[in-house]
Amino acid sequence: MFVSKPDTGAPDCGGAIFPELGEFIDRQAKGRDSLIPVLHKAQELLGFLPVDVQEFIAEKLDLPVGEVYGVVTFYHYFTMQPRGRHTINVCLGTACYVRGAKKVVEALTEELGVRVGETTEDRRFSLTTQRCFGACGLAPVVMVNEDVHGRVTPKKISALLAQYE
Ligand code: FES
Repeated sequence: MFVSKPDTGAPDCGGAIFPELGEFIDRQAKGRDSLIPVLHKAQELLGFLPVDVQEFIAEKLDLPVGEVYGVVTFYHYFTMQPRGRHTINVCLGTACYVRGAKKVVEALTEELGVRVGETTEDRRFSLTTQRCFGACGLAPVVMVNEDVHGRVTPKKISALLAQYE
């Protein structure tokens, strides 16, 4: 059964999104084969997957809520936390790692006051890491949204962040 939205600290956009998500789900077959595409769609629409959205999906697809939760927490792509306006993605692939990416991550966590996987309180930034963006010649590489920043050092962090309000 669909339950009221718990306080996730997120803007209350559930009412606006569920009809569109519901229509999308109605076009899918019920069952677990549709779960991943539905979760992708839900995250595309809402930006994250809070518990009430997972319950809604479980009910619509005729699946146990625990199964939906299991998939959401298994895949790094899915998040239960609201995302910031900008996503900072630090490459921790080998080339970037040996050229100081770990120090870049440390500088970002200090500057932003969040750990990897978290979002700043003002929702300006989310901090994530990934393996190799295929731009190893620019190592260490940081992506902010779709922008690629090469040869990033801890000293460049403040100026880099200042480009994104
Ligand atoms: S290892 Fe960082 S872009 Fe390839």
